[in-house]
Amino acid sequence: MMFDFSPDPGLAKPQQYEDLLAAVAAVIEDERDAVANMANAAALLWQFLPELNWAGFYRLVEGELVLGPFCGKPACIRIPLGQGVCGTVAQSGKTALVEDVHAFPGHIACDAQSRSELVVPIKRGGPVIAVIDLDSPVVARFDEQDAAGIEALAALLSARI
Ligand code: SME
Repeated sequence: MMFDFSPDPGLAKPQQYEDLLAAVAAVIEDERDAVANMANAAALLWQFLPELNWAGFYRLVEGELVLGPFCGKPACIRIPLGQGVCGTVAQSGKTALVEDVHAFPGHIACDAQSRSELVVPIKRGGPVIAVIDLDSPVVARFDEQDAAGIEALAALLSARI
């Protein structure tokens, strides 16, 4: 089985996310293994979205966030709830769009290149089970369309991770 997706960087963001979601749906539809599905989703985020320096998952394990599959440089392994952008989102259950990480109190810098960040919770039923974390070296890389696209991705992945 070979997956060969061709993201079109010229597309408007909503179409970029439509294509990304279709690609993720295709790779997870016949697979129930959480690690395999998060790994392919991280690879597709990396392939489809421009200007990222990190894309991946933290899972909620025994009350703290633990690093999951990702693309980018090696990252912090465990993040307590309430700490950093990811820990804040895991606790609140609400998406965080951080235009300038230097202005976010308590931001955890895993890569000094990161300047903006989007973190979206993945919920199953009610509780947060994981977060999707995207980092960019560009200030204000993410907007409401990115947040909506990644929230749709979180909903798609919820039953498959
Ligand atoms: N910046 C994140 C930590 C995770 S890494 O960036 C991959 C945070 O503040 O939660």
